[in-house]
Amino acid sequence: MSALLVTGGAGFIGANFVHHVLAHTEHTVTVLDKLTYAASAASLSDLPTDRSRLVVGDIADAWLVDSLVAEHDIVVHFAAESHNDNSLDDPKPFLESNIIGTYTLLEAVRRHGTRFHHISTDEVYGDLALDDPQRFTEETPYNPSSPYSSTKAGSDLLVRAWVRSFGINATISNCSNNYGPYQHVEKFIPRQITNVLTGVRPKLYGAGVNVRDWIHADDHSSAVLTIVERGRIGETYLIGADGEKNNREVIEMILEQMGRPADAYDHVTDRPGHDLRYAIDSTKLRTELGWEPRFTNFAEGLAATIDWYMNNRDWWDAQKAAAESRYAAQAQR
Ligand code: NAD
Ligand code: TYD
Repeated sequence: MSALLVTGGAGFIGANFVHHVLAHTEHTVTVLDKLTYAASAASLSDLPTDRSRLVVGDIADAWLVDSLVAEHDIVVHFAAESHNDNSLDDPKPFLESNIIGTYTLLEAVRRHGTRFHHISTDEVYGDLALDDPQRFTEETPYNPSSPYSSTKAGSDLLVRAWVRSFGINATISNCSNNYGPYQHVEKFIPRQITNVLTGVRPKLYGAGVNVRDWIHADDHSSAVLTIVERGRIGETYLIGADGEKNNREVIEMILEQMGRPADAYDHVTDRPGHDLRYAIDSTKLRTELGWEPRFTNFAEGLAATIDWYMNNRDWWDAQKAAAESRYAAQAQR
């Protein structure tokens, strides 16, 4: 049994991870989260209080981070500004949380000799052509496109440098696009589900040919736990579940599953610099650590996600209006 410090645990993937850890292990969990607009303390409200707690604070607060790291065995670092569209509008918070925040954590784990796992994204690799037979591997060169992905790439490089120069006990994982419960309604899948539920037509950027490699957040969680428990120090592992779909297919599936005509959506202004395709080859994680995804049927995982948003309107109602006003102020998307 270990004491885990989970940064960003009130966000989408962090909350899924905390639920997964408490359900499948004996570990205790402290969540450190600044509760930005993207967080929801309600995502953690049903957790056992004898094994989990929430500390509200900033990962860039060196004193707070040092005192928390000193009390824990393992740090699992999810906290980040995470939305590409926001990063195009205002990059500064991305530098502060993703770069300075990660640096602050690295210095603390270096001082205390604490095991550290850094959560990152496949977006650090840039994008692939639609017909490229290759997928991203751990050897693919970094080539990020947006302020979001470049700050995530920068944070990964800081972790690698702290491993090599200071010998910290760290691993890194780069995962593909996640879907599932507790995802903020600014993101593609929940935005469209909640558009349908509020009587608004779903919105597809450009022609919708862009491909994302979808993985259920619970599979991301099981992969991270596997790496935390058995990953080799200093290594990077790519996490993916062979879930490539283009955005048009996904929007049509959402509409059909919600009983609407498949073409009842609008094309809107494309995202500047919009990455065309992401695709993950997760052979290393599967062969070296024996991990396998559980949610291999995207249609079933999507149906369960739609049910979750239909049954948890209280969870997303307040964030919906705020997210849509941010979009309206950004670029008519
Ligand atoms: P999210 O935006 O839903 O949650 C991020 C959380 O971090 C929020 O609770 C927020 O309050 C917190 N946070 C932000 N800045 C902070 C700070 N300075 N101090 C403390 N807390 C802070 O994001 P998510 O989708 O859950 O992503 C979590 C991690 O997973 C990120 O590192 C992201 O890069 C990575 N990732 C996401 C995806 C995806 O599909 N969403 C895919 C691969 C990797
Ligand atoms: P998003 O959920 O923002 O994730 P990411 O940018 O990390 O891939 O977007 C997923 C895809 O969906 C991306 O290609 C942009 C597209 N998209 C839309 O077509 N419409 C939308 O309303 C949103 C938010 C995204």
